Amino acid sequence: MWLTSSTLWLLLLATQCLAKSSSSQESFSAKNEAEVVFEKNTNSELLWAPYRSNCYFGIRPRYVDATPFIFGLMWFDTTQFDSMTKLRHFVSDEDNLERFTWEVYDPRVGGKENIIDPENNLNLTIYFAKTHDDQNWVVRVSGKPLDPSLNTTTSVIVYMNQNVGGDLKGPSRLVYMDNDADENTFTFTGVSEELGKYEVLVNDNYGTYYHNETLGSVEAVPGCDASRSAHVGLTIPDHEVWRARDIFQSLLTDSIKDVVTQLGENIESGLVPSILTLRNIHNFEEGNFHYIQKTFDLHEEKGFEFDVVYNNLESEQTIESGKEATKLINDAINEVNVRFDNHFDIENLGSDDKREFAIEVFSNLLGGIGYFHGTQVIDRETILDEDQFESIKFEHYKEEGPYSLFTSVPSRGFFPRGFYWDEGFHLLQIMEYDYDLAFQIAVSWFRLIDEDGWVAREVILGPEARSKVPAEFTIQSPQVANPPTLLLALSEMLTKLIENSDTLGTPHAAIDSDVEDGISAALGTNFEYIIKYSKVIYPKLQQHFQWFMDTQRGQLEEYMEDMEDDVTFSQVHQDYVFKWLGRTVTHCLPSGLDDYPRAQPPDVAELNVDTLAWVSMMSRSMKNIAHILELEADEAKYAEIEKKTVENMDLLHWSEKAHAYCDVTLDDEGDEEMMLVCHEGYISLLPFALKMMPSDSPRLKDVLKLMSDPEKLFSAYGLRSLSKQDPYFGAGENYWRGKVWLNINYLCLDAIKHYFPEVIEGSQQSSQLGDREASKIAQKLYSQLRENLVNNVYNNWKDTNYVYENYDPITGRGTGSVQFTGWTSLIVNILRRQAL
Ligand SMILES: *[C@@H]1O[C@H](CO)[C@@H](O)[C@H](O)[C@H]1NC(C)=O
Ligand SMILES: *[C@@H]1O[C@H](CO)[C@@H](O)[C@H](O)[C@H]1NC(C)=O
Ligand SMILES: *[C@@H]1O[C@H](CO)[C@@H](O)[C@H](O)[C@H]1NC(C)=O
Repeated sequence: MWLTSSTLWLLLLATQCLAKSSSSQESFSAKNEAEVVFEKNTNSELLWAPYRSNCYFGIRPRYVDATPFIFGLMWFDTTQFDSMTKLRHFVSDEDNLERFTWEVYDPRVGGKENIIDPENNLNLTIYFAKTHDDQNWVVRVSGKPLDPSLNTTTSVIVYMNQNVGGDLKGPSRLVYMDNDADENTFTFTGVSEELGKYEVLVNDNYGTYYHNETLGSVEAVPGCDASRSAHVGLTIPDHEVWRARDIFQSLLTDSIKDVVTQLGENIESGLVPSILTLRNIHNFEEGNFHYIQKTFDLHEEKGFEFDVVYNNLESEQTIESGKEATKLINDAINEVNVRFDNHFDIENLGSDDKREFAIEVFSNLLGGIGYFHGTQVIDRETILDEDQFESIKFEHYKEEGPYSLFTSVPSRGFFPRGFYWDEGFHLLQIMEYDYDLAFQIAVSWFRLIDEDGWVAREVILGPEARSKVPAEFTIQSPQVANPPTLLLALSEMLTKLIENSDTLGTPHAAIDSDVEDGISAALGTNFEYIIKYSKVIYPKLQQHFQWFMDTQRGQLEEYMEDMEDDVTFSQVHQDYVFKWLGRTVTHCLPSGLDDYPRAQPPDVAELNVDTLAWVSMMSRSMKNIAHILELEADEAKYAEIEKKTVENMDLLHWSEKAHAYCDVTLDDEGDEEMMLVCHEGYISLLPFALKMMPSDSPRLKDVLKLMSDPEKLFSAYGLRSLSKQDPYFGAGENYWRGKVWLNINYLCLDAIKHYFPEVIEGSQQSSQLGDREASKIAQKLYSQLRENLVNNVYNNWKDTNYVYENYDPITGRGTGSVQFTGWTSLIVNILRRQAL
């Protein structure tokens, strides 16, 4: 939907007035000194990138909150009158793109994105590269027809804005410099209070503008001419810039109406591309926002190409020519390829192209990294209790912030924002390539932990991010938790750091290749710093852990009477039982496994085995972090919690009947008895997957058998989320009721290797369990599971050009959100020759 003309008028008129008055102060969340230093030190390499994850291509700088420069790209074929619905801007599964992918990409250097858009007959390639000082960049937009005989056009709209921040009278501006030499070349000069002075150049490399031999001139009415670039400058308030597409459509609609008034309804078809070209019919005064529209003829195979160059005028490395830009782009692509191969030695099985697959999937994970800034909608009043089982209503919400977040996203089309539980999985993958980048993302998340220790499970900052979320999901509650994967990732990161400290602590003289190795370069200089900064965030992590335990703590009281004489029950550590707060009859969103079957009906006394497993994992992570930071008393404290939670898992949640870990609830029907609720699937596996079972537990064998059983969890495409024999398998919404998900499969593979190191060929270690049959099961499971996961994700990619949110447990077909390059990208770690 686009704005109606009248709404737009109000918006823009208000803006024109606003520009002349002053406005309210923008408030900023306070940063402490260590944070400011950290940002300054790390920003030099990651200031610029296409950080607008939800756009096919959109740039904004990181940590520049008041006066960022914003850039975006849109396109459509303008030969049909009704083509406005095909205007591409935000990534959408509904655009029916045949392909949309970063072939190679690294936010530190640049990359190449390819889009195949059949409805617009377009093969579009967008290159992005930066100078080494990270101050300047080039975007190269290159398009070809998929079928030249169709006589289509591509109208590309580039837009940019210099935000003014709170101070409308401040120096921030972006001005078009009239260039008499060439009507298709543009120069802008800009000033940002935070970024300094800069210049933006728009230059064609090749391409033919729209023309029509029959008609001669294609100027429909004065100023409405697709045979040359169009430029419209105006003022749009900072917080509306993200609606560039809506505003373009409204302005264009007004222009079309005006043309129809002048020319009547019967318009020559050859004039349509001109009529779909923007002009300033309202005579808006030029402001900081600029649209440039270029309409190229796609009769010829060769297509078109143009560059947009941003140069910081205080930098010494400005990009002066197209030739320089070409070199920069080629170097960037080479560099990413070399870096990738340095970190991932991908096993090419046979003659297939697993490496190409792997680098593409991984590039898209990095390509989803965005920087978000804005307010968050939070309800701190509504109390979650049994009254909410039917449905949860958050009605006492307020906007808080602004906050900032540097994060990757699950998928750019459907989930273009930060997800707390996804992010830990993303980091497990990113840290293997660029430790420093992963650490910075983790830090950005931990900074969101508030005074109560809470961080939202979805971070939806500002109207641009909110526009992609159904209203009922935008509101976050400080009572709702989510699997704390970020702590898992941080603990792994710090462990890795310690393991490598001997080699990494010294200055990096050891690096002799031309292409610097991302991880060791960053770590070599930052080892001390990472430890130091971990100390800064440590108190927040403590608060977070405490908050998690306090809010998700379960109640044992109701079981006391029934279990009075039970010896096992009497050993349960009473303060260490947990449940997800905020489940409904149908869903348990906090668990991350939304519709996974749980006890019916819900009961306040319910205890969830997965919540307990996550708390247990958290306590071990805290223990490890305390150890690394040499905080002995804390280390002992967390070790104690770990011990108790691990024991509770067996004391309370193990079913001797099902041979599996299960939820617990109170049987309200009969005599208020304690009852195990067993739905075999990912929940039963979590104590194992998170490595929270004792290494010599005989129950390991039961878990192995559950995973290996083709009638239950084992499939040719990976482990099913729910047993094929469960009555809920494939039922209802069918989201976590059988579908194969890569995140839990990854954890399980990793855990098999942890408990049964002998599954790796040539390994010197063997399992503490010392059960030969179990060891055999583990070996077979490990190699088959790994192969099945790799083959299925790869085959789907090969067939459709995409990776998916999850995979059908019966056919293996990709399902859910398309190009879900969040945790599905863990397939890259699985593919490494040194498996996992
Ligand atoms: C798109 O263009 C690229 C670069 O010219 C080419 O390699 C690729 O095969 C094209 N793809 C399609 C589907 O035409
Ligand atoms: C494209 O234009 C050429 C003439 O330039 C014409 O011969 C051809 O029929 C047109 N193709 C279509 C699909 O309209
Ligand atoms: C050129 O314009 C004429 C008149 O509007 C139209 O009939 C014809 O299809 C156009 N040719 C192309 C190739 O677009």
